[in-house]
Amino acid sequence: MNETKKLYLFANWKMYLGLEASYVLAKNIKEELANLNNGITMAVFPSTLALASVAAELKSTTIKVGAQNVYWVPEGGYTGEVSAEMFAATGAEYALIGHSERRHQCHETNHEVRQKIEAALTAGLTPVICIGETASEREAGSTAEVIETQLRSALGALAWRDGLPLLIAYEPVWAISRGVNKPGGHCSAVEAGKMHAVVEKIARELTGIAPAVLYGGSVRPETIAEYLATPHIAGVLVGAAATKFSSWSEITAAAVEAWR
Ligand code: 13P
Repeated sequence: MNETKKLYLFANWKMYLGLEASYVLAKNIKEELANLNNGITMAVFPSTLALASVAAELKSTTIKVGAQNVYWVPEGGYTGEVSAEMFAATGAEYALIGHSERRHQCHETNHEVRQKIEAALTAGLTPVICIGETASEREAGSTAEVIETQLRSALGALAWRDGLPLLIAYEPVWAISRGVNKPGGHCSAVEAGKMHAVVEKIARELTGIAPAVLYGGSVRPETIAEYLATPHIAGVLVGAAATKFSSWSEITAAAVEAWR
């Protein structure tokens, strides 16, 4: 039994689910998975389109809701963007910042990631800072350097907001899947745990706060227990396998079991 530690079970629904499917999944989660053990925090990250309806559905439960991205200006002429304040007002408590799909598909820079982290903190959202190396960076042997650069830019000389946990998601880009039946490369729990130890050390040096480092990249019902049994892995950020109720409930059950 873990009485002091926390476990994070985070579900990034990416752009897999529209408004109706998001609502239905939230409703299933509310009906079946709402009573988790003490110390386990479950949060879902729906599309921007569906966030308000999912947040309303989960409002009376312990399940949290987060945005997949935020803009750093509170309001104004920024076509297509949604600010951290606007998400917070709708019931979001978390925000993914710097997900690799935004860094690589939308060309988001470390500087923009930093601005978004600051905006999230100002709005009272807990940022989930996503970092990770690409396949070519890994092959070139520059993983440690990439991770350190991302962390320094995200956290250097940053005033963290009292009371909010420091959450970092280590997601090796080469291990992220392209759909529920198409896993990415396999980052073993041992390999992930080693990187998490490095991430923890750098983040603590930069902020003075002990972070919780979540692992993301092709987590499946069959692999969740192994990750959660590994030192330095404080939870998971699951993509494709979190978008179907059957696999998410299996992942949740395995996590609850591993957490006993
Ligand atoms: P998958 O679980 O689909 O590999 O996605 C991981 C991820 O990118 C979560 O943010």
